[in-house]
Amino acid sequence: MTSATSTPVRTRRNLPWPIAFYQTAVGKKWVMAVTGIILLGFVLVHMVGNLKMYLGETDLNKYGVALREIGGDLVPHTSILWAVRSLLILAFVLHIHAAATLTAMNRKARPVGYKGGRHYVAANYAARTMRMTGVIVLLYLLFHLMDLTWGNANPNFVHGEPYHNVVESFSRAPVAVVYIIANILLGIHIYHGAWSMFQSLGWNNPRINAARRWFATAFAALIVIGNVSMPIAVLAGVVS
Ligand code: HEM
Repeated sequence: MTSATSTPVRTRRNLPWPIAFYQTAVGKKWVMAVTGIILLGFVLVHMVGNLKMYLGETDLNKYGVALREIGGDLVPHTSILWAVRSLLILAFVLHIHAAATLTAMNRKARPVGYKGGRHYVAANYAARTMRMTGVIVLLYLLFHLMDLTWGNANPNFVHGEPYHNVVESFSRAPVAVVYIIANILLGIHIYHGAWSMFQSLGWNNPRINAARRWFATAFAALIVIGNVSMPIAVLAGVVS
């Protein structure tokens, strides 16, 4: 029997609803899906923007300047860029937090695991792949920022000259290979993510499964082909 003087337990009921929702597995899956969509949007826009490299040095460098000048004289310099960056950082942090806490939740719910179930093996394979590719993409992103944004991993880095920096970076074969492998792993992560996000959002009708599979394959393939083409083009001397 509970005594009248015992400390009140803070239950989900008295938490604000977004936090209470986030504490459930469904809430975490929603957050993963919504932040995943934001990150997919970034990866697509970033890839399309970087393809300006094929138009030449002036076009890519002008694009870099244009990103900083979004909003023109109406807003302080780089403020829109920083607003977008803040949204991306928030989405990225929430995506990783939801993934980590969901994994912990699943482990707690079933510490021993099923024995020999085929579906379990398949689901576990996808989850393990997502964790592995997710961690590698995170490490790649850190290296990428050091290479092309901050410049401390790129000996010939010049501030404000993305074309020069990209060419200098990809001219080093080991760096180009890192970009190629990391972007293929990113493609695998995107494929699984784009497929499962519909399920997380409750769009799991068998009639749309073919469309889900098509979307996940096409999106992942587009990103991999676009991103991998750039280091290959520099290595092959097509872009120099
Ligand atoms: C071969 C493919 C890629 C190329 C050529 C490339 C190129 C670049 C360049 C040149 C910059 C610096 C832009 C500037 O400061 O003006 C940059 C920044 C960045 N890249 Fe990439 N990138 C590639 C792939 C990726 C991927 C796959 C991701 C994410 C997983 C990514 C995430 C970022 C982020 C977060 C920034 C910082 C953006 C900012 O500071 O506003 N990039 N990239």
